[in-house]
Amino acid sequence: MAGLIPPEFIDQLLSRIDIVEVIDPRVPLKKAGREFHACCPFHTEKTPSFTVSPQKQFYHCFGCGVHGTAIGFLMEYDHLNFVEAIEELANSAGMEVPKGAGGGKPAEDHSPLYQVLQQVSDYFQQQLRQHPDAGMAADYLKQRGLSGGIAAEFNLGFAPPGWNHLINALGRDQNSLQLLHKAGLISTSESGKEYDRFRERIIFPIKDTRGRVVGFGGRLLGDGKPKYLNSPETPLFHKGQILYGLHEVRHGGSGKLQIMVVEGYMDVAALAQFGLHNSVATLGTATTQRHLELLYRTTPKVVFCFDGDRAGRKAAWKALQTTLQAMKPGREARFLFLPDGEDPDTLIRKEGKEQFLRRIDKALSLSEFLFQHLSADIDTTSLDGRARLADLARPLIEQVPAGSLHDLLLQQLSNLTGLETRQQPRRQPRQSASQTRTPLQRSPLRDALRLLLEDPQLASLENLPSNWRQSQAKGIELFTNLLDLCRSSPSITSAALIERWPDENIKSHLAKLSTQAIFAPAEGLQAEFIGALRLLGEQHKQQQLHSLLQQPLNALSEEQKSQLKQLYNERKNNN
Ligand code: UTP
Ligand code: MN
Repeated sequence: MAGLIPPEFIDQLLSRIDIVEVIDPRVPLKKAGREFHACCPFHTEKTPSFTVSPQKQFYHCFGCGVHGTAIGFLMEYDHLNFVEAIEELANSAGMEVPKGAGGGKPAEDHSPLYQVLQQVSDYFQQQLRQHPDAGMAADYLKQRGLSGGIAAEFNLGFAPPGWNHLINALGRDQNSLQLLHKAGLISTSESGKEYDRFRERIIFPIKDTRGRVVGFGGRLLGDGKPKYLNSPETPLFHKGQILYGLHEVRHGGSGKLQIMVVEGYMDVAALAQFGLHNSVATLGTATTQRHLELLYRTTPKVVFCFDGDRAGRKAAWKALQTTLQAMKPGREARFLFLPDGEDPDTLIRKEGKEQFLRRIDKALSLSEFLFQHLSADIDTTSLDGRARLADLARPLIEQVPAGSLHDLLLQQLSNLTGLETRQQPRRQPRQSASQTRTPLQRSPLRDALRLLLEDPQLASLENLPSNWRQSQAKGIELFTNLLDLCRSSPSITSAALIERWPDENIKSHLAKLSTQAIFAPAEGLQAEFIGALRLLGEQHKQQQLHSLLQQPLNALSEEQKSQLKQLYNERKNNN
């Protein structure tokens, strides 16, 4: 995705916006000298170590080490993905994100569709208050124990009985009918007649993470089938990518600590009514990787709630298998099994909040559930059984990214089976920018990079040394690219220099360099930069000299010999 937005646009965007204006409404900033300070929003602290530099267009917390550009800030703070963050910033800057330059088909403009979905949601809500039959909907909600406050919080609505209320209200012309179609709100009969999809149902609007309505779920007021009807897949509505209630959780506050994943709309609403505003529901589908990504971008702790029956156990096992790959260090997944025949809605109404919370506290950890499930049909007292357990568990454990959970699972397997579970050498996962806090060691190349990030205009100095260009130091290519980039766009910001690399490793390396203090006054930067380049060139010569000296003299070509002589002389002169 990221690759589809032209880097030049990102440069432009970052030079147009001001990171201070992006952060200040979210985290009020105080001016302190050239920079702005606040208490860090990403860790708990009493004295402000969160710093925003308008000059670098960069933020950095000296307490916990987080840092980044306005794009990174929005991703972290508003839980947006890269493209969403760009869109948000572009929006505030009055810029239009260009649709994938060259190749790929241009992204469609979905704003009319979002608009119509919002209108429909408003319409259904209005019907819950005003339609002549609204009484039966209100009675149903009352009978389910749902308060008016909760109905309002979740924007519940009512689709009245009848075939064409929505069509009459909002399908005035061909264009709006077409949009209603596209939004999955009307269907066409075999005889070609159009009719409302949702009829005589309580309506649950389904929002995306940004709070835009993308679809609906509708429940019958009584028994019958199907009990729930959902929007079909549309350009905006993909069940596997949406969690009901996530928008509310993100904006309600308590979801930062822990999120419960339940099965139904009613469960989410009932839990909220009891003060638990941190649950989300999958829309009748199994948990997907995308769901997990959305969840763990909001909280490190997820509790899955399942029925205690066979179907519930099966669904839970499936969820566990999907979760394994997502268990990066710091993340936690737990599994709660409810008594047979209960769901969170019925249970919390029966037992109350405290009892329900106690159940949550006792939910199985991932490792408990994993080993419990695997050993259910295995006799672990026999050697065969233990070998079998190891065979079943190992491929699952291998899916867990390296980290303490991975090690703990192996350890437990070894305890359970008495078998040696040798740890396979594996690649360490890349640490995220916010996890790397030890300062990078200095080197001429890093110094040069760091200085360039501090002041991109250094690239345009006229008397820069050039003998470093033959250097083969690791990273020289990146530096050359950056230098050329700075020369060709002299007004580029440090933030843009960092954001334009699609490779996360490079991005985070640069971000980290950029946060490391510069020990020279602003006017000393030029001299330092030139010095670093000179040193880089020297380093290259030393290496050349070294490698030439490694070879027997008579194996060198004439050219190499004269090179050696020259290097030697230079060194003598320098000393
Ligand atoms: P449940 O049947 O457990 O729903 O289905 P629930 O929320 O407890 O419903 P109530 O309490 O009887 O009102 C769980 C979820 O599965 C999807 C819905 O998303 C529902 O919330 N589902 C269920 C459907 O899509 N269609 C159905 O017919 C039933
Ligand atoms: Mn239910």
